[in-house]
Amino acid sequence: MDFTAKRILVTAGANGIGLAIASKFRELGATVFVTDIDPDAVDKARVNGLLAAVSDVSDEGQVRELMDTVRVEMGGLDVLVNNAGIAGPTGPLESLDAAAWKATFDVNIHGQFFCIKHALPLLREGSGASIVNLSSAAGRLGMAGRSAYSASKWAVVGLTKTLAIELGPDGIRVNAICPGAVNGPRIDSVIAAKARMLELPADEVSALYHNQSSLGRLIEAEDIANMAAFVASDMARNVHGQALAVDGNTEKLY
Ligand SMILES: NC(=O)c1ccc[n+]([C@@H]2O[C@H](COP(=O)([O-])OP(=O)(O)OC[C@H]3O[C@@H](n4cnc5c(N)ncnc54)[C@H](O)[C@@H]3O)[C@@H](O)[C@H]2O)c1
Repeated sequence: MDFTAKRILVTAGANGIGLAIASKFRELGATVFVTDIDPDAVDKARVNGLLAAVSDVSDEGQVRELMDTVRVEMGGLDVLVNNAGIAGPTGPLESLDAAAWKATFDVNIHGQFFCIKHALPLLREGSGASIVNLSSAAGRLGMAGRSAYSASKWAVVGLTKTLAIELGPDGIRVNAICPGAVNGPRIDSVIAAKARMLELPADEVSALYHNQSSLGRLIEAEDIANMAAFVASDMARNVHGQALAVDGNTEKLY
C-alpha cells in the first residue's frame, strides 16, 4: 500500500485509535492532518510531524473552518477518517441524563455528518477518494447499559450504507470499521463504569471483556489502523458500503 501523494484527515487523531491510524498512513507515505479537542495532544502531534489543529467535530462552524484549513495546508483531501467518538453514559436507560445522551449523538453521529458534509467539496476534487467511519461492535450488536453509544454507532452504519449509494456514482467509496474492545485507557474507563453499574470487581468485568472475543484477547489500535489503511487503499477499490468488523469474532457484548 502506497499513500504517497495522498492527503488524509483523521478526526480525534491526536490520541488513541485515531493517532494509530494517523501514524499508519504517515508510515505509508501520506500527508496526514489530525484534528482533536485536546490542545496538548494537538501540540504533541505537531512536534511529531503531523499537521494538526484543535477542532470539535460536534460544532459545525468549527468543522467548516477546519476544512478551510485542510484546503490551505494540504491543498485538498483524498481520505476522511471519521474517528471521533465518545463512550457516552453508562446505566439502564431510565437512569440516563438527557444531556449526556444528546452529547453522545452530537459527537458520534452529528460530528460525522458535519465532517462529511464539509469535506465533500474537497473529496470530489481528490483522487481515489474514500471515507472511513468508525462504528463499533456495538454498532452491530446490542450493549446493555450503553444504549446511547450503541444506538449512535448503529446510526454510523446507516449513514455509511446510505452514503455508499449516494456517492458510489461519483467514485467516492464509504465504509465503516466496527472494532471490538480495543486495548488502551478508554477501555479501562469503560470497564470501570460497567463494573460500578454491575457492582462487580473491575477484574471480573475486565475478564468478560477479554473473553467476549473468540480469540480471548483485546484488539490493538494498530489492528484498526491496518484495516483503515487497507480499506482506504486501491487494494480495496471494490469494497464499498461495508461495516467491517475487527473484533476477533465478538458475538456478545458485556
Ligand atoms: N476504544 C475502544 O475499545 C473502541 C471500540 C470500538 C469503537 N471505538 C471507536 O473508535 C474511535 C476512537 O476511539 P478511542 O478509544 O481512540 O477514543 P478515545 O476516548 O481514546 O478518544 C480519542 C480522542 O478523541 C478526542 N475527542 C473527543 N471528543 C472529540 C470531539 N468532539 N472532537 C474532536 N475530538 C474529540 C479526544 O480528545 C481524544 O484525543 C471512537 O469512535 C470509538 O467510539 C473504540
